[in-house]
Amino acid sequence: MRPLPSCRRKTRGISLGLFALCLAAARCLQSQGVSLYIPQPTINATVEQDILFSVEYSCHGVPTIEWTYTSNWGMQKIVEWKPGTQANVSQSHQDRVCTFDNGSIQLFSVGVRDSGYYIVTVTERPGSSQFGTIVLHVSEILYEDLHLVAVFLAFLTAVAAVLISLLWVCNKCAYKFQRKRRHKLKGKPPPRGPVAILAWF
Ligand SMILES: *[C@@H]1O[C@H](CO)[C@@H](O)[C@H](O)[C@H]1NC(C)=O
Ligand SMILES: *[C@@H]1O[C@H](CO)[C@@H](O)[C@H](O)[C@H]1NC(C)=O
Ligand SMILES: *[C@@H]1O[C@H](CO)[C@@H](O)[C@H](O)[C@H]1NC(C)=O
Repeated sequence: MRPLPSCRRKTRGISLGLFALCLAAARCLQSQGVSLYIPQPTINATVEQDILFSVEYSCHGVPTIEWTYTSNWGMQKIVEWKPGTQANVSQSHQDRVCTFDNGSIQLFSVGVRDSGYYIVTVTERPGSSQFGTIVLHVSEILYEDLHLVAVFLAFLTAVAAVLISLLWVCNKCAYKFQRKRRHKLKGKPPPRGPVAILAWF
């Protein structure tokens, strides 16, 4: 009865190994020939921005590229095309999407509702495809930003007010100074004492 556990362990090890091998082979067959590179799998954006979903594929033939969009509001096809031909853009994204030969798409003027998962599938022929996902977060322009802008504007207004008062005072000084000089030239002594201080303003 002793050798049984070790024997069992061995068969289990072998079957595990076989399973892993099968998995690797299946994956190899599935993705044979197509590879996909996504430099930025998460994109944060604010409303009204134009977003580039950048990908790059490589395969032997000319593949079909398809982009779909999934979110809380459901799943939609965005566009499908073969590089070098006219893209078939879905009704929901008409006039908002442009496609590139490397498989990337650009989405113009995004809104909060465009947040979600963008799935690209590159299919060379049936059974040979690769897919990737890009997550897009679109947020409203932050309230803190507006707050900062308001503070900045208030600061600018204050600076402008100080400058204007300074200008006004300078102007007044120059005027008084000129008047004083004219008085002197005429030989009349300028008023002295409290009268002079009053005359300044
Ligand atoms: C996007 O925003 C989230 C938080 O909302 C943050 O964790 C993440 O690092 C940001 N990613 C990029 C690429 O800026
Ligand atoms: C794909 O092409 C676009 C437009 O030429 C470019 O901006 C983008 O960087 C490319 N993507 C990659 C991953 O090279
Ligand atoms: C474009 O896509 C629609 C729906 O996916 C399909 O019915 C139509 O045949 C396609 N047109 C072309 C030219 O591939």
